[in-house]
Amino acid sequence: MKISLYDDHEAMSRAAAALIVREIARQSENLLCLATGSTPTRTYASMAARARRSPAAFARLRVLKLDEWGGLPENDPGSCETYLREHVIQPWGISPRRFTGFSAVSDRPESECDRIRQWLVRNGPIDLCVLGLGRNGHLGFNEPGPLLHPVAHRATLTAETLAHPMLERSATKPTFGLTLGLAEILQSRRILLLVSGAHKQAAFQRLVRNEISTDFPASLLALHPQTTVLCDRAAAALEPSGKPATQP
Ligand code: GLP
Repeated sequence: MKISLYDDHEAMSRAAAALIVREIARQSENLLCLATGSTPTRTYASMAARARRSPAAFARLRVLKLDEWGGLPENDPGSCETYLREHVIQPWGISPRRFTGFSAVSDRPESECDRIRQWLVRNGPIDLCVLGLGRNGHLGFNEPGPLLHPVAHRATLTAETLAHPMLERSATKPTFGLTLGLAEILQSRRILLLVSGAHKQAAFQRLVRNEISTDFPASLLALHPQTTVLCDRAAAALEPSGKPATQP
């Protein structure tokens, strides 16, 4: 894993956007798999500004939703669907036909996961997978545990994950997650992991220990030859001077 450190969230987000732009310039039909949450929001906003300047560079992108809260209506303000439509699909000018992802409202989540798994077999692999780091080390909704799932699946969510701020605006609470599996993520040509904020310090420390364990799903990224981690000083527990920060 190549790890790069930035002074603050804004600098990290600008660097992430620059990396994504370089990747999408390589070929027009790029398939991006995108995470939601607070970490990539400024990155996506920076991309939106670039899309306004050069719409042609974005016109043929394809976007795959990494994960979804099971049981939320699709237009729920807390759904990953709503997030990606508001922060990516509309502002980047991507046709909704080029956006694919789990439906949160399917009454047969296992079939929905099969549908996405087969879609990825036909349309993959992912060219660039943009990930955030869960406080407990999850990637998408691949939660820590004695075993991990290779392909898209219905996931049991931990209490910590269910307390995610995305859900604060939701009237309905999810009962499970729908997520790509670790093999599907690791088959991406390139992976970009963003880590930001003091609340990610413990997770970041564990990530850089470089020990692979199903108990910390993000540790599996060490198996991928093209993983780039961008983090800010708050997550790395470093003050602007570069000295380790005092723990809160
Ligand atoms: C959520 C999402 C993940 C996301 C992660 C981190 O549970 N399912 O895809 O990357 O948590 O979220 P945040 O960036 O808000 O910390």
